[in-house]
Amino acid sequence: MSSFRTAQIPLVSSHREVYEPCDDSFALVDALLADQVKLLNHHPTLCLEFGCGSGYVITSLALILGKEASATHYIATDINPHAIRVTQETLEAHGLHAELVCTDIASGLEKRLAGSVDVLVVNPPYVPTPEDEVGQDGIASAWAGGENGRSVIDRILPVADVLLSDKGWLYMVTLTANNPAQICLQMREKGYASRIVVQRSTEEESLHVIKFWKDADLQVDGKDSTHKTGPGKVVESLISQLPRLSFWRNNSNTSR
Ligand SMILES: C[S@@+](CC[C@H](N)C(=O)[O-])C[C@H]1O[C@@H](n2cnc3c(N)ncnc32)[C@H](O)[C@@H]1O
Repeated sequence: MSSFRTAQIPLVSSHREVYEPCDDSFALVDALLADQVKLLNHHPTLCLEFGCGSGYVITSLALILGKEASATHYIATDINPHAIRVTQETLEAHGLHAELVCTDIASGLEKRLAGSVDVLVVNPPYVPTPEDEVGQDGIASAWAGGENGRSVIDRILPVADVLLSDKGWLYMVTLTANNPAQICLQMREKGYASRIVVQRSTEEESLHVIKFWKDADLQVDGKDSTHKTGPGKVVESLISQLPRLSFWRNNSNTSR
C-alpha cells in the first residue's frame, strides 16, 4: 500500500469516457480528510462508493483509513464499464484492492449489502439537464442529473437508506441547484441527521459535501412531518420552518 494520504493524480488512470477527478471529487476527498480521525474511530467494516469514475475517491478513502483499517472491505460501483476498468488500474497503481461492480447504483447488491455499509461516499451526476440526457452511455452519465440535477440523487437516497448500517455514514456531494436543504429534510424523514463537512462556492454556485447519519432521536411521528428530538420534545413541521432554518444546523450533535 502506498504511504500517500490520498490518491496521487499521476497514478490515477484515465479514459476519454470516464470522469476525471475534478473540484467536486477533491471536495469529497477533502471532506473525508477533514473527518479522518472520526473515520478511524468509526472502524468501518464495509465502505462503498456509488459512481467511482476514475477511482480517485475510493482509492483516497482506502488510503485515509490506511493500515489501521486493514480488515475493511471496499466496494465501488459504476454504470460505466470503462470507469470500472480505470478504477481497477488506479487502485492497483496505489497497491490497493476493492471489489468493483458495473451496475446501476447498487442494483443486484441490495440483498447482500442491506444494513451493512458503514461508510458510503457519492459524487453523483448532479448537473441540471434535460431528463433525456440522464443515463446516457459514456461520459454524459457522469454529470447529467435531469430536472434540478435530482434524477439520480433521488434514486440513490432510498438505496443508501437500505444499505447503511445502524452506525452508517453517507457523504454526498450536492449543488445548490439540487436543493440540498430539501434533501436533508427528506433524509430527516427517514431518521437521518446531517451536517455540511465541506462547502465550496463560486459566484454562481455552491457545492456542498453533506454527511448523513442515523440519529435514534429523530423519529417520524405521523404524516405531518413532526419529529421528536428528545424525550417529550417535539419540533413542529420542519418544512414550514425551512426559510428560517440553516439546514446544516439541524442537529447539534457535533461528534459526527
Ligand atoms: C460526477 S462523476 C464522479 C466520479 C468520481 N466518483 C469522482 O468523484 O471523481 C459520477 C459518476 O457516477 C457514475 N454514474 C452515473 N449514473 C450512475 C448510476 N445510475 N449508477 C452507478 N454509477 C453512475 C458515472 O459514470 C460517473 O463515473
